[in-house]
Amino acid sequence: MTDQYAVIGHPVSHSKSPQIHQAFAAQTQQDISYEAIEAPLDGFKSTIERLVSEGYKGCNVTVPFKFEAFQLCKQLSGRASAAHAVNTLLFRDGQILGDNTDGAGLLADIEQNLHCKLLFKKVLLMGAGGAAHGVIWQLFNAGASIVVANRNVDKAQQMVAEFAPYGTVFASSYEALAGKKFDVIINATSSSLADELPPLPEGLFAPESLAYDMMYGRQTPFLKFAAAQGATRLADGLGMLVEQAAEAFCKWREVRPDTAPVIARLRE
Ligand code: ATR
Repeated sequence: MTDQYAVIGHPVSHSKSPQIHQAFAAQTQQDISYEAIEAPLDGFKSTIERLVSEGYKGCNVTVPFKFEAFQLCKQLSGRASAAHAVNTLLFRDGQILGDNTDGAGLLADIEQNLHCKLLFKKVLLMGAGGAAHGVIWQLFNAGASIVVANRNVDKAQQMVAEFAPYGTVFASSYEALAGKKFDVIINATSSSLADELPPLPEGLFAPESLAYDMMYGRQTPFLKFAAAQGATRLADGLGMLVEQAAEAFCKWREVRPDTAPVIARLRE
C-alpha cells in the first residue's frame, strides 16, 4: 500500500517539497505519495490529528507552524529540542514524534555541496528568529566559532546563552561587527523576503568567504552586497531546501536519496 506524506503550511501552494519528495521516491523506488496541504492558521492541530487518523506516516511542517508542531510532539529529537521548532513529524502507533532537519540540511549544503568545512571557522549567523534557532545547534556541533548578530541584541543573547558554556559563541549588534572578518556569513533573517539588507558594516568578507542566504529563488540584497564587498563564493538556500528534505526522507524511509540531481533539476 502507498504510504502517505505531506507538507503542512500556510500558505503552501508555492512549496517545492512535493516535487522534491516525489523525485526522491522515484529515485529510491519507494511507494509513497506526498502532497501540499494548507492548514487554516487556527487549525494546525486538527489538521495533524486528521492525518494521523487517516493513516499518514508523517509530514513536513513549514511556516508558520514549526513552533506549534514542536509543542504538539509526544517525543522530540535532541536537535528539535534545541531548535524549539519541528519541521519533520513521524506518526508511529498513533503518536507524534518530532525532528528538525533544517540545521542538518544547511550543514550538508555548506560542507558537502559547497565544500566548506566549518570546524574552527568563524561564522556570522544573522538573525535570532525561528530560522536561526533551527540551525544554530548544528553549526555549533560542526565546531564553528559563531557570532549571532541581530537588531534586537537581547534575542541573540538569549539564543546563544545555552551554548556559551560549551564553545565559542557570542551575541552582537550589527555595528559591533565593524573591523571583524568572517569565513562564512549566513543570512537567517527574514530581510530578503522584504528585499531588505540587514545593517551590516562593510569589510566583513575576505575574497574566499562564503556568503549564504537561506532564502532561495532570487538574487537577494545580501548576496548583492556580499558580491560588491568582494566575496566570490555566494549561495542561496536551494541546496539547504533539498538537503533538509533528504534528511526527512531518510528518517521516514530509512534510505538516503541522492540530492545532486534533484538540486540540478530545480536550478534549471
Ligand atoms: P523567521 O521564522 O523567518 O526566522 P522570525 O522568527 O519573525 O522569522 O524572525 C525574523 C528575524 O529576521 C529576526 O531575527 C529579525 O530581527 P529582529 O529580531 O531584530 O527584528 C530579523 N529581521 C527581519 N528583517 C530584518 C532586516 N531588514 N534586517 C535585519 N534583520 C531583520
